[in-house]
Amino acid sequence: MVTCISSLTCLTLLPKPLFNHINLIKNFTLLKNFKPQKSNFYSLMLSPKSLSSLSLHNCSDPKSYLQTPLASNDDLVILGIETSCDDTAAAVVRSNGDILSQVVSSQADLLAKYGGVAPKMAEEAHSQVIDQVVQEALDKAKLTESDLSAVAVTIGPGLSLCLRVGVQKARKLAGSHSLPLVNVHHMEAHALVVRLTEREVQFPFMALLISGGHNILILARELGQYLQLGTTIDDAIGEAYDKTAKWLGLDLRRSGGLAIEELAREGDAGSIKFKVPMKQHKDCNFSYAGLKTQVRLAIESKNIDAEIPISSASTEDQSSRADVAASFQRVAVLHLEEKCERAIEWALEMEPFMKHLQSLSACLKVVSGGVASNQYVRDRLDQVAKKKGLQLVCPPPSLCTDNGVMVAWTGIEHFRVGRFDPPPPANELEDARLDLRPRWPLGEEYARGKSEARSLRTARMHPSLTSMIQASQQEENT
Ligand code: KG4
Ligand code: ZN
Repeated sequence: MVTCISSLTCLTLLPKPLFNHINLIKNFTLLKNFKPQKSNFYSLMLSPKSLSSLSLHNCSDPKSYLQTPLASNDDLVILGIETSCDDTAAAVVRSNGDILSQVVSSQADLLAKYGGVAPKMAEEAHSQVIDQVVQEALDKAKLTESDLSAVAVTIGPGLSLCLRVGVQKARKLAGSHSLPLVNVHHMEAHALVVRLTEREVQFPFMALLISGGHNILILARELGQYLQLGTTIDDAIGEAYDKTAKWLGLDLRRSGGLAIEELAREGDAGSIKFKVPMKQHKDCNFSYAGLKTQVRLAIESKNIDAEIPISSASTEDQSSRADVAASFQRVAVLHLEEKCERAIEWALEMEPFMKHLQSLSACLKVVSGGVASNQYVRDRLDQVAKKKGLQLVCPPPSLCTDNGVMVAWTGIEHFRVGRFDPPPPANELEDARLDLRPRWPLGEEYARGKSEARSLRTARMHPSLTSMIQASQQEENT
C-alpha cells in the first residue's frame, strides 16, 4: 500500500551560507539547476558529462565528505530516500522549503503480524515498493530525474538489510543521471526537519529525538556539530509504547504508540503506580527496559489476554487495559520530562548565549521522531520548556515519523555547504560494497552525560557524524 501525504505549506528558509570551507577538494562541484553567483561561487564548473567521468571516491574518507561550498540563493531540488526501518519513503523538496511531493509506504501489516520489525521481511517489503515509491515522488513533483540537483539517502543508523535497499536505489538513480549523492544520518534528519517548517529555529538549539530505536538529547551547535547530552542505556521510549500496545492486544497497524495514546485518554493515569526509571541517576540518560517489565507484570496480574483484541474484550477488561495504557504513558513521559529539565540546565550552563536567545523568545527546544507526534508528550514537554523559559517546537506529526522530506531537507542543508559525494559510476555492480552505518552515533558524548552501563555497548560503532566532520575540518586547517 502506498500512502500519499499531501504537500504541506512551508515557510521559506534560507540560512546564511557558511563559507569557511573554501580550500577544499576542488575537483568537483555540482551544478545542475544551480545558478552561480560570481561573488560566492568558487569552483570549476563541470558539465554533467565531465562529472560522470570523475572517479568514485571513498565515502568513508572524511576528507571527501566535505566538498566545495555552494551559494545560498540557490534553486536546489533534492530527492530524499528513506528505508532505515519499516517505512519506504521518498520526497522531493526544493531549497526554498517547498515540499513538492511526499510518499510513504508503510509496513503496518507486517508490523501487526510480527509484533515488531523482522529485518528480512522488512527488506523484502522495501525491495517490492522502492521503485514505485520513488517514481511516485517524482511524478507527484511533476519532475524527472534530470530536473534534480542531487539525491539524498539515509545510510544509517538503522537495519543494514533495509538501509541497503534505499542506498542501492539512490546510487543507481544518481549514477545513471550523473547526480551527486548526500549521505544522510537518520537522527540528524529528524532533528533538522523542523528548520524547514519553522524558520525561527536557528543554531544552537536543543533537541530530544524519540523514536522506536532512539532516545537522544542533543545540543545542536551548528550544522553537523552535535553534543550528545543523553541517550538510552537500553530500550527507547517507542519500543516501550510498541510492546505495551502488543501486550494489551491493541491494533498495531497504525503504530503501537498511536494506539496507546488513544486508549490512554479513556484510562485513569494514577491507577497503577509504576516507578519512574533512573530517579537516582543525576544524568540525562534514559532507560525503558525496567518500565516494560513493570508493565508486563501489571498486565499479567490483571489477567489481560493479548490474544483477545481489545474490541472483543468485556467493558471491564477494556477499562482495565485503558488504565494500564494511561499509567504507562504518564510514567514513560515523566521520565522524559525529568531528563529534559536537567538537559536544559546543562545546555544553558554550556551555552550562555542561549539565555540571550531565550530573551528573544527564540525556539530552543525541538522534539522530533515518531513518538513526538503524540499530543500528550508534546503538551507535557511544552510545560517543561515553558518552566525553563524556552519555547518548544515540533514538526507536524507527518514529519515526526519516518519520511523522505526530512532526508531531502538534510540533503539540502549539507549540499549547500559543500558536503556531498560525486555521482557513483553508472555501471556500479549490484553487489558493490556499500557504505552503510547501522550503528552510527550522531554526536560526541558530553563527558558529564556518559553512562557506564552504556559504554559497554559501544563496540562496532561507526565514528560519530560530528567527529567525522570535525576530522575533515582539522585536515583542512593543517
Ligand atoms: O521515527 P519513527 O517513525 O521510526 C523510527 O526511527 O523508529 O518512530 C516510530 C516509533 C514507534 O515506536 C511508534 O510506536 C512511535 O514512534 N509512535 C508513537 C506515536 N506515533 C508513532 N508513539 C507514541 N505516540 C504516538 N502517537
Ligand atoms: Zn526515525
